Amino acid sequence: MPTPSQQAILQEMGYTFWRFRDQGSGSRKQTAEEVAPPVEEASAVPVVEPAPVARPVAAPTVPLEDAPLHNDRAAAIARMGWDELTRAVRECSACALCERRRQAVPGVGDTAADWLFIGEGPGEQEDIKGEPFVGQAGKLLDAMLAAIGLARGHNVYIANAVKCRPENNRTPHAEEMAACRPFLLRQIALLQPKLIVLLGKAAVHSVLDDDQALAKLRRQPLHFGQIPVAVTYHPAYLLRNLPEKARAWEDLCRAKKLVEAG
Ligand code: URA
Repeated sequence: MPTPSQQAILQEMGYTFWRFRDQGSGSRKQTAEEVAPPVEEASAVPVVEPAPVARPVAAPTVPLEDAPLHNDRAAAIARMGWDELTRAVRECSACALCERRRQAVPGVGDTAADWLFIGEGPGEQEDIKGEPFVGQAGKLLDAMLAAIGLARGHNVYIANAVKCRPENNRTPHAEEMAACRPFLLRQIALLQPKLIVLLGKAAVHSVLDDDQALAKLRRQPLHFGQIPVAVTYHPAYLLRNLPEKARAWEDLCRAKKLVEAG
């Protein structure tokens, strides 16, 4: 169960409370250590892209059809450091999304983070401010982070499958996600997070190349290369489907256990 302060946050966001079945009726409060994941030392930044082959520990099989070095552009991106990568994202014109953006939104957070959260793409507020998840969905994401003892910028990095806003906040097309994927792959390679949390279908599609329903994937043990992957609902979806928040909370608790075990 969350601590009283976490409960306050969750209640504010409309969460309902529940226990894992195997915890029985006697709920146990988490200690501070259990709530806050340990802060790790910054890991060395790899220059070479790790093979981004999704490696499920158990079924289902999650193929990733495209290697990161499939063309010169992807190969160049796979060698970039953070500053160069950020510049390249801001200047990118690899797909039509660049034509209507105010600005590209590279990502935000702690570049030595254990946790990488990946959403779909910038909305209007993100397009204005140049930072992911700063609108309504972002407020909910911040509350979700707080509920598991995390905060934006501290041991957390937040990125999107596409870095430019699709008009009217539509779902990015497959070719737009493919054009942006080298950036996302490089962000993953530079971060080497302990866990990737995929927020919604577009992120799942981009990282795992999997179109199965989230309801099916969210409890599966998935990997991207050697990195464990947790799948949960997108905060914007949760804002429209309040009952699913309990499931998202369950996913986050499971994700926290994965990071603590890693
Ligand atoms: N939704 C997303 O998927 N990403 C954002 O940055 C904002 C809203």
